[in-house]
This record gives sequence, C-alpha cells and structure tokens, in this order.
Amino acid sequence: MSTDSMKKRAAEAALEYLENHTILGVGTGSTANYFIDNLARIKHRLDGAVSSSEATTRRLKSVGITVLNPNTAGHLPLYVDSADETNQQLHLIKGGGGALTQEKILAATSDLFVCIADRSKLVEILGTFPLPVEVIPMAHSHVRRELLKRGGQPTLRKNVITDNGNLILDVYNMQILEPTKLEAELNNIAGIVTVGLFALRPADVLLLGTASGVRTIRHF
Ligand code: 5RP
Repeated sequence: MSTDSMKKRAAEAALEYLENHTILGVGTGSTANYFIDNLARIKHRLDGAVSSSEATTRRLKSVGITVLNPNTAGHLPLYVDSADETNQQLHLIKGGGGALTQEKILAATSDLFVCIADRSKLVEILGTFPLPVEVIPMAHSHVRRELLKRGGQPTLRKNVITDNGNLILDVYNMQILEPTKLEAELNNIAGIVTVGLFALRPADVLLLGTASGVRTIRHF
C-alpha cells in the first residue's frame, strides 16, 4: 500500500474524534490536507476551524469551512495534525512544512491533540528527520553556533520565509534521546522562536495508517 493511502486512512480515522458544533484546530501538510478533504463532507457539523498556516487557511476556505481568529476562538477541544517523526511516547518532530510555530500554539491551546500519520513516521529515536527550528532573521548565525555546540548540523532552509517572516534552520545529526530536556534547552536560546520538537506538549493520540488498518497509540 502506498504512503499516501496510509495517510488517507489515518486522516479519515480522525473524524471519529469530532463532536458536533465544535471548533477544531487544523494542521499543515499533505496528511492534514487529506483530513480537510474529509472535513469538507461533514462541514455542517462544524462551527469553524482555527488554521495553522496560510496554506491550510486557503484550503479550508476553498471547501467552505469558516476560518476563525485564534485570539477569539477560545480554547480548542480538538487539534488534528500530522508529524515528520513520532516516538512511542508521542513526542514529535514537526515543521517539515514550515508551520511549526502556529502548530505549537494550536497544540498548546487544545484539550486533545490527535496526530495522524503513515506508519513510516513512527521511529525508536527522534532525529533522523532534521529538526526544524524557526529563528528571527537577525539571529540565525548566533543560533547556528549554539546548535553546532550541541552537536547538531544546522542548515538554513533555502528560499523559505515562514508565515511569521522568519527563517528556518534544519538541524541534522541530532540523536534526540531526551526530547523534553532538549526542547526546554533549545527554547532558551535567544533568537529561536520555536523548536519543532513537540515533547513538552506531546500528541495525546496517534492514529497510524498502516497496510492492515489504523493503529491507535495513546500517550501515557
Ligand atoms: C508541517 C508539519 C507536517 O505535519 C509534517 O511536515 C508532516 O507533513 P506530511 O503530512 O506532508 O507528511 O509539521 O509544518
């Protein structure tokens, strides 16, 4: 079975977590897009959505879903998004699509974070996928030096400006053995806006699309 078919399976399974007349947070990327395709069919059950990126906003609007301002939408009962990597504890690497800052805000604002992914995203140790870090433009050299000191190999993502007007460093060679500790440490480097490590606020449920169906893993 193709990776895309597994993503579609996971995206469809997330519909079960939706309650009627709810406002939900929606992530960014190809798996989130499959989820939006599913939402289009049941949009009459939604009071609206809070988006994690300009790309997702466009897609939600194109299928007729109202996009709400996160500052007035209030607390989110549900946030559905994918990841670049997840471990068994549902600590995630996110930001491959560059939307990590808004994604982290939606994760922080939500009661339930459901991560949807194909089975290739589940790993033993995070870090094979380069860790995205959003940085203030004037600080990227400083942040790069700080990441080098910690054993990472930061590379500036070419031709990318985030929705917030910032840059992204992709950090290679990070074997992330203590995700919560590393996230807290990197959060303290001046100039970093957001680290694409979601361990202090992990996903609550992982729906993993596989060739034999959807496997559910809950955070413990
Ligand atoms: C975007 C993300 C995405 O969730 C992540 O990159 C996974 O994308 P895809 O669903 O296309 O595999 O974090 O910033």
